[in-house]
Amino acid sequence: MTVATLAGLGQGCAKVAERAERSGAPVKVGAASWTDRRLPVDERVKLLLGALTQDEKLTLLTGYYGTQTSWNECQFPEARLQSAGLVRGVPRLEFPPQWQTDAGSGVATQGEAPPELERTLLPSGILTASTYNPALAERAGVMIGNEARASGFNVMLAGGVNLLRDPGNGRNFEYGGEDPWLAGTMVGALVRGIQSNHIVSTVKHFALNDQETGRDVVNVKIDEAAARMSDLLAFQLAIEQGDPGSIMCSYNLVNGAYACQNEWLLTQVLKGDFGFRGYVMTDWGAQHDTVKNANAGLDQETGVRVKGEQQFLDKLAAAVTSGKVSQARVDDMVRRVAQALLEKGAIDEPVRPGKIDFAAHAAVSQADAEEGIVLLKNADILPISPTLKRVAVIGGHADVGVLTGGGSAQVYTPGGNAVRGLGPAHWPGPQVYARSSPLAALRSELPNANITWTDGADPAAAARAAAAAEVAIVFATQWTAESIDFSISLPDEQDKLIEAVAGANRRTIVVLETGGPVLLPWLDRVAGAVEAWYPGSQGGPAIARILSGAVNPSGHLPASFPRALEQLPRAQPAGDKLPAHQTFDVSYDEGAAVGYRWYDKQKLEPLFAFGHGLSYTRFQQDQLTAQVVAGGRPVGFRVSNVGARAGKHVAQIYVSPSAGGWEAPKRLGGFAKVELAAGASAEASVRVDPRLLASYDVARHAWHIKAGEYAVLLATTARQTSQTVKVQLAERWLPAGSGAAPLSP
Ligand code: BGC
Repeated sequence: MTVATLAGLGQGCAKVAERAERSGAPVKVGAASWTDRRLPVDERVKLLLGALTQDEKLTLLTGYYGTQTSWNECQFPEARLQSAGLVRGVPRLEFPPQWQTDAGSGVATQGEAPPELERTLLPSGILTASTYNPALAERAGVMIGNEARASGFNVMLAGGVNLLRDPGNGRNFEYGGEDPWLAGTMVGALVRGIQSNHIVSTVKHFALNDQETGRDVVNVKIDEAAARMSDLLAFQLAIEQGDPGSIMCSYNLVNGAYACQNEWLLTQVLKGDFGFRGYVMTDWGAQHDTVKNANAGLDQETGVRVKGEQQFLDKLAAAVTSGKVSQARVDDMVRRVAQALLEKGAIDEPVRPGKIDFAAHAAVSQADAEEGIVLLKNADILPISPTLKRVAVIGGHADVGVLTGGGSAQVYTPGGNAVRGLGPAHWPGPQVYARSSPLAALRSELPNANITWTDGADPAAAARAAAAAEVAIVFATQWTAESIDFSISLPDEQDKLIEAVAGANRRTIVVLETGGPVLLPWLDRVAGAVEAWYPGSQGGPAIARILSGAVNPSGHLPASFPRALEQLPRAQPAGDKLPAHQTFDVSYDEGAAVGYRWYDKQKLEPLFAFGHGLSYTRFQQDQLTAQVVAGGRPVGFRVSNVGARAGKHVAQIYVSPSAGGWEAPKRLGGFAKVELAAGASAEASVRVDPRLLASYDVARHAWHIKAGEYAVLLATTARQTSQTVKVQLAERWLPAGSGAAPLSP
């Protein structure tokens, strides 16, 4: 690119772009080259480092916002349409650009669309976690990674694993729920799938970015041991199981230091204890002080869009010249970026925009939805009898589509937004509905029924429709989005609508499309309830097939549903009454007692417990054996399908020290999803990661399993145990970074 073609860039951007394009020495013919695929990766990285000029190195560490908008001064022509980011390449050395796209449910379109990219949308992350099926999550990752590659992206910003501490967090839909083992396992599997496409995936937002209110200014206070046993453990597990090429540090501060300039988080914990070998990128605009960022362990600045003179490229160059950042640190940043891209195959298998097999991908999205939709309540109403003649479908725009989550993860499905004009006019709005009508799908699932449609705007009209039907199905929605936290009461007086419908017809089923847990004050007055989360581009047929019984539900909750706000550690997000940009603390006094651990500890009865999920068949589980759980020997048990139809069961193992002493009485130690024909039984087993039996000891910098008696519970939810056995464990110390090797016997 010449300076002339950069003329459209903002001044600062043009200046740095021009500077980055100054060529180094010509590449010597015949010399060993970093592009030689026969050489080991570390050899290639060394050769690359030797060939790059300082400006070229800094180019690989500076990312720009990828989308043309009124406020983006740094729009480069090689950026992909409507993308999150671009890190420019080094054409002289054939080092490709890094084309970055959001996010965990598919290839997203950034703000100020159109034109919207139309891509397959997986169900939300919390729905995928509800499948309790890592193989399915991996397949989902393979699919969205394929679309990323076919859209010309070699870095996917997917892998959200922040724990659900507050049900009102606007980004819960992107994450994997409230338990570190479940979230780490499911998100790790998604990341593995994405990276199987020879692209990089990005586990985020590191760390403790568990509320959106004041996300740029909130200082999270938590003690180290609690952090290591909760949010950090979820990251550790996702990293171990997914091996992501990159990690995104978050906007918030953790114990007084911004996450992206937090040396303890990035260098000691992530790169040291967790042994993370990839690179750390900022969340978009989360960089504050270049010198602190660099010395704390940040490797790449992203999302630059204005004021080019403030970019990493220039500031880091100055910091090296003045000796505030060492050249070795800069080389380490480049090494990490290049190594991750090489190891994942993103360089040797260059991405090229290509065709997408939408039909095949729709099937993947639908399979995910059908395993993750949770049957919450069934008072003898579901599956809907095929002999019914009159069904009333009400509300939630079910005539045209299903709701999706907003913000940077926003994916537009084929056909674009099915309902225009809802929600905020500007980012993270508008509300977007995927064109997949539950009403149409129900009509094809239940051909004998006359299915009426009422939009729900008028509760009296909805009640009349319900009274005239044998069964009423109300669709209730809660839009959530990045950058905002939400009330966990259904908006727009939908509770009143449901009360009116249920008042007219007790045979009412409520289908929820929500970002996370919500309050269900009418639950006793309806006959059925289904949590469909944001079910993705095939949400319509997936919901209809669950309701009709074509699919036997097997989703289980990855998060507890409270009975009332008062049960939560925080009824409102911290800082919600403060003026924007005013810094504040949120003190995570619940520590590692997140979700069901909190309810157990406080002796509170949730409305629906973690792990809850009904089926159209019945399962039994027994024959629990667990002699030595900490030695890596599996916990064994038998699952039987004692009902009349095939189904999938989620067996849950919890562990609990008889003497107490943990943050809460018990923890999830593992789970297994078992598919069984009617009348069939199968043996199953899970291995309990020793860290789940340990507490983190800050002074010893290690995990500690105390000697003594532990209960191993075979359960169907965090509140329903089928069988318990007691085991004796010897004392063990485990290194901070790994569950594998014991430090002492
Ligand atoms: C979000 C990230 C996202 C990035 C790029 C930020 O606002 O927090 O999750 O990857 O934007 O779009």
